[in-house]
Amino acid sequence: MHPSISLAGGVEMPRCGLGTFKAGGTEVRGAVSAALAAGIRHIDTAAIYKNEELIAEALWDDARIPRGDVFITSKISPYQMGRKARQAAEEILQRLRVDFVDLLLIHWPGASGLKADSPRNAELRLETWRALEALKSEGRARAIGVSNFEAGHLRQLLDGAREPPAVNQIEVHPRWPQVHLRRACAEAGVAVTAYASLGCGQLLSEPAVRRAASEAGRSPAQVLLRWGLQQGCAVIPKSVRPERVREFAPAALLQGWELSAAQMGALDALAGDACKFCWDPSNIL
Ligand SMILES: NC(=O)c1ccc[n+]([C@@H]2O[C@H](COP(=O)([O-])OP(=O)(O)OC[C@H]3O[C@@H](n4cnc5c(N)ncnc54)[C@H](OP(=O)(O)O)[C@@H]3O)[C@@H](O)[C@H]2O)c1
Repeated sequence: MHPSISLAGGVEMPRCGLGTFKAGGTEVRGAVSAALAAGIRHIDTAAIYKNEELIAEALWDDARIPRGDVFITSKISPYQMGRKARQAAEEILQRLRVDFVDLLLIHWPGASGLKADSPRNAELRLETWRALEALKSEGRARAIGVSNFEAGHLRQLLDGAREPPAVNQIEVHPRWPQVHLRRACAEAGVAVTAYASLGCGQLLSEPAVRRAASEAGRSPAQVLLRWGLQQGCAVIPKSVRPERVREFAPAALLQGWELSAAQMGALDALAGDACKFCWDPSNIL
């Protein structure tokens, strides 16, 4: 499996990243350092995670990694959509201490403070997208995309956008495989980054996952991540424990093994008992 996904415009997004939601303080610095040591070159953050400054410290002060060697994703918060989006992006760049991010996403299809069924949500999504298009043309973001967009949100954005989103970052795991949405993304040329691949930790004890792990001689986390990779997604698992982060290394996930059709089938069957672990964008107009 190729270690990166080619996005529109020739940007290479590493398939194996590190998530950082709910990771702060010295923990996130340690996690990023462990990730870099394990060969992970893709760090996922967001304005609302409030850890961009700590990630900058881990990257530029602790590891002193060259800027071009790491792919950084951040996201415009639902509190800063529309007219505030440009300033929000500038603040992200400042906190990360970079001239550009590799991927900048609209975090959520709804704007904070609006009702889910307000038609203003769609207007603010498009206004935010226009700001992202401008930032990309100025070289402040190498690629731009969305997160938590359902097929309807995507269609609407594509109608008004000058360029399509490169990525949709969405919840994807065997119990919430998002088959239809991933197909809609593929048809529109939008790459998918899977989040909550481990079911926020809760899928690690699933019997089907443990069985595949023992058969493959890998950990349950590696089985869940490999399932996402074999679906064509990039993955961004989160842990603040270095020994767990090491399990997310690209060399351990991409090389020398794969889940068999029977193992994939056993994991796919978990969708029969569907379960979502994170926020639900389906009612946002
Ligand atoms: N765009 C969005 O709206 C959105 C939403 C959710 C997530 N995300 C992104 O996706 C990333 C991943 O999603 P997620 O953090 O929600 O869930 P996840 O990666 O499925 O699971 C993370 C949880 O699993 C635990 N864990 C990790 N490895 C483990 C192991 N080997 N054994 C036991 N527990 C383990 C972690 O705890 P420890 O840290 O204690 O190890 C953490 O509580 C986030 O961090 C974030 O960057 C994006």
